[in-house]
Amino acid sequence: MPRSSNMPPKAEAFSLDDEKLPDWIEAAALRSGGFPYTRRMKRKDYERELRLLQIELLKYQAFARDAGERLVVLFEGRDAAGKGGTITRFTQHLNPRHAYVVALAKPTDRERGEWYFQRYVRHLPPRGDIALFDRSWYNRAGVERVMGFCTPDQTEHFLRTVGDFEKMLVEDGIKLIKIWLNIGREMQLKRFHARRHDPLKQWKLSDIDLAAIEKFDSYTIARDEMLTRTHTAHAPWTVIRANDKMRTRLNALRVVLVECDYPNKDGSVVGVPDPKIVLPAPAFLL
Ligand code: ADP
Ligand code: AMP
Ligand code: MLT
Repeated sequence: MPRSSNMPPKAEAFSLDDEKLPDWIEAAALRSGGFPYTRRMKRKDYERELRLLQIELLKYQAFARDAGERLVVLFEGRDAAGKGGTITRFTQHLNPRHAYVVALAKPTDRERGEWYFQRYVRHLPPRGDIALFDRSWYNRAGVERVMGFCTPDQTEHFLRTVGDFEKMLVEDGIKLIKIWLNIGREMQLKRFHARRHDPLKQWKLSDIDLAAIEKFDSYTIARDEMLTRTHTAHAPWTVIRANDKMRTRLNALRVVLVECDYPNKDGSVVGVPDPKIVLPAPAFLL
């Protein structure tokens, strides 16, 4: 593997194709990128809490149907941050007719000729529905910027205008929640390695993932500028330190549920997001 700026020298010797994950990656993965816990949570506890939180989400969905509420939860994060797996825990028991995932492929020729936000706007929820975005219009400030799929001017224009765009959605009554899942470098490598060798996960390993290994620092710069410039009063970012998938999923559900009011809400189940790993963007950026 070619070296990138602050990757340990040992990284040169590592190829994703090697069957064994190097010890230095395994040892550093969970704590990488500033993750505060030294162990993953217990699966039993995870399963119990997940079920209870999913029941709360169902109560919210029933209410949203009646009240005509529209919810957008948008997930961003590096490749392998766990966006897809987290979203699956949201949708698992929801009525699929009124809760759906928006995971758009790369823009078509036609879409490239449209207003940038247009292809996303088409997927905004109608009354009573929940839309979960696996990546979003923020591609322009992240993957498109780092991979060179757009010009620097286009990124700049996006960063300047997205606040107004989101304000229109929110003022129209859409509830908009923006979540950044944050993983460290070694955790990303560990998950790419798992994708490479697990037949059930190979489809997830894209050319863009492979490029991300060397562009780790460019993604960090893009992330920080994006969070700094697009965290607004009407549409704030919540960052979840996401090295532990189980804690990530439970806390993402909590982040959403604390924002929702619905009959028979069980406050003891919803609780509050874990402040050790859930932070408003400005606190994360400190
Ligand atoms: P995943 O969302 O599973 O990580 P990829 O890693 O393949 O999928 O792609 C990452 C993102 O980059 C996707 O949102 C995809 O639509 C976008 N993308 C890929 N190629 C292009 C391109 N040529 N122009 C703009 N966006 C692209
Ligand atoms: P999974 O998708 O859970 O099968 O795991 C994919 C990769 O992440 C593997 O390298 C696992 O060892 C690792 N992993 C699995 N569960 C967790 C977890 N709760 N927190 C962090 N990493 C995990
Ligand atoms: C994730 O794991 O964060 C996404 O669902 C897939 C990816 O970014 O590669």
